[in-house]
Amino acid sequence: MTDRYCVLGNPVAHSRSPAIHAQFAAQCRQDLVYEALLAPLDGFAETVRGFIAAGGKGANVTVPFKEEAFRLSTRLSARAERAGAVNTLAFAGREIYGDNTDGAGLVRDIEANLAFPLAGKRILLLGAGGAARGVIAPLLADAPASLFVANRTADKAAALARQFSDIAAVDAGNFAEIAGNCFDIVINATSASLSGAALPLPAGIFAPGSLAYDMMYGKGETPFLALAREQGAARRADGLGMLVEQAAEAFLVWRGVRPDSAPVLAALRAQLAA
Ligand code: ATR
Repeated sequence: MTDRYCVLGNPVAHSRSPAIHAQFAAQCRQDLVYEALLAPLDGFAETVRGFIAAGGKGANVTVPFKEEAFRLSTRLSARAERAGAVNTLAFAGREIYGDNTDGAGLVRDIEANLAFPLAGKRILLLGAGGAARGVIAPLLADAPASLFVANRTADKAAALARQFSDIAAVDAGNFAEIAGNCFDIVINATSASLSGAALPLPAGIFAPGSLAYDMMYGKGETPFLALAREQGAARRADGLGMLVEQAAEAFLVWRGVRPDSAPVLAALRAQLAA
């Protein structure tokens, strides 16, 4: 019988995950179907249970359900525990296993696809919400020289930094407090571009040869990457690669094989440019 997977979200109609996983399945000759499933805002758990009852083997979870998926899981991976959020569920018997592949996807996109090793680098992470929290431990795992978390609300950045103090010292502050510092990689994990708002980044924060990375993506240049270009960031990348890599990592969790992400990312990129 064909195994069933889905992405759960609200909204979810525009998710690219079904197309990504269909390509992975074809490439790896895996017999599965993957659909987009809209969960009511007050009915996430019911939707998951219904999907399991219908034979579902696993699910990706997107906005706004990642924290709820964390709470629904009966067993968590160490990285999901750290992230406080779940983007990948696997169902076996009565168990709901929760994992989080977002951070691994980001790191793989930066290090493998963009050939930008994090070891010894000065990292600036913008934002202190769920998206930022999910990537801190994976970033620290690759031994950067430093990590600064900057957020509009400084208290939230400081609280987040404290949660990871057992792994490494993490600096925290508001955007003004970045001034005078220089970074090799600046990652945007805020949702500011959703509202079209520009981030108040001080001038001179991009080191020579630095990479600006936006976890968001869209048609054309994102507002953060436009700002980074104006401020002299040598390299710029949006979050499309992270999207494909977190999916590849989820596919690995479910099926035990890692698909080749490159042709899938190239096809998505072409679609987005069309
Ligand atoms: P997510 O799960 O996408 O991280 P979130 O938990 O709501 O969503 O967090 C949104 C992040 O974007 C926060 O860091 C938020 O800053 P505050 O903590 O100060 O609210 C940041 N953010 C959203 N809109 C912003 C804006 N216009 N300027 C700067 N930061 C913004």
